[in-house]
Amino acid sequence: MSQIDYIVKPGGQLTGEFRVPGDKSISHRSIMFGSIADGTTHVTGFLQGEDSLNTLRAFRAMGVEIDGPTEQGEVTIKGVGIDGLKKPAASIDLGNSGTSIRLMSGLLSGQSFDLELSGDRSLSKRPMKRVTDPLALMGAQIDTAEGGKPPLRIHGGSPMKGINYQMPMASAQVKSCLLLAGMYAEGKTCVTEPATTRDHTERMLNAFAYPVQTQGKQMCIEGGGRLTACDIDVPADISSAAFFLVGASIAENSDITLQHVGINPTRTGVIDILKLMGANIELLNQRVVGGEPVADIRVRSAQLKGIEVPEELVPLAIDEFPVLFVAAACAEGKTVVTGAEELRVKESDRIQVMADGLQAIGVDCEATADGMIINGGSIKGGTVHSRDDHRIAMAFTMGGLRSESEILIEDCENVNTSFPDFIGLANNAGIKVSVA
Ligand code: S3P
Repeated sequence: MSQIDYIVKPGGQLTGEFRVPGDKSISHRSIMFGSIADGTTHVTGFLQGEDSLNTLRAFRAMGVEIDGPTEQGEVTIKGVGIDGLKKPAASIDLGNSGTSIRLMSGLLSGQSFDLELSGDRSLSKRPMKRVTDPLALMGAQIDTAEGGKPPLRIHGGSPMKGINYQMPMASAQVKSCLLLAGMYAEGKTCVTEPATTRDHTERMLNAFAYPVQTQGKQMCIEGGGRLTACDIDVPADISSAAFFLVGASIAENSDITLQHVGINPTRTGVIDILKLMGANIELLNQRVVGGEPVADIRVRSAQLKGIEVPEELVPLAIDEFPVLFVAAACAEGKTVVTGAEELRVKESDRIQVMADGLQAIGVDCEATADGMIINGGSIKGGTVHSRDDHRIAMAFTMGGLRSESEILIEDCENVNTSFPDFIGLANNAGIKVSVA
């Protein structure tokens, strides 16, 4: 892959009404659950980003017939049933996608065949013991590379049994991994999370007629059930919308409406945090589509102010901190983020990489063990590195709206993992970004 850098010219205002690409979390799950369901699942609004396409290719490699995605994001999955997956011919390469490898490690631990899950440079550095340790308690046999990193070699034919597991960290990927393994286990699997995380797995399994019981922060599933195919309408991804929520807030004279955005309450931390900072955000036309709440979101410019971000909102906005740090850089006063140590094990160490980048463009900030302290003011401009991380690249693109001079962002090819045609959409909205 050749290196792609972005150049962002300073200034601009955001206007218009548009739709950002489909939700990544929901797109992944639609392929996984559709593949092991009985019957044919139709998906619309599927995210055609590299991450969800890697999940799609993986299930094709395990013998599932999948048509699409068409240009409109339609996918048809001919489910093979809960026990119908076949041994893939080669190692499955999941690219940059943490959601694919962690959810699939659970789903595939109870199969009858051996297989290997691998990924790119960034994924190969990410911690997998958080899934392989509890899966081993269930009976799974998984070899990892040194330090519990990918590739994961899963030995098939291991009998699985249900466990009662207290998760040490708030992670929807770990929760989902164990619930999926629980479908293949004898008895009941219960997972308790320390804080509420996104609940797309629970909602979608219920939509596929596989019951998951949720009581407060505990979710339970019985092994031995089956899934029934259904239709999935994937809303626009609030994590992709987040760049424009911040962009339109910080750029003068902006007024945009983002269409058909998923506003599942386990994902709306970014809206709550921006509102606490003084953002002007309205949810219009609220409705429920296929078990997920959706709205059109109108955002207008506002003078943001620094805040102490409430820790309970952190897991509900976990992917949005790169761009929230940019919002804080444009706010009046100090913003303090704590309780966000999980940011250090995302596609990059998002605390360090953002602090380095913000400092490089003249922002007064300090990385802490579990967050950041940012003194808002002006953004000067300069060169930053995305460290292979799509959300870092897109966050700094928004910084250009308020910078005094150009921002050069290095290594942006991974934007394609979650946001195909980000450059086209950003330019149409009023951001002066181009590929160097
Ligand atoms: C995701 C869960 C989150 C999030 C990721 C998608 C999911 O990861 O950061 O982008 O779809 O379950 P963690 O479970 O590591 O917090």
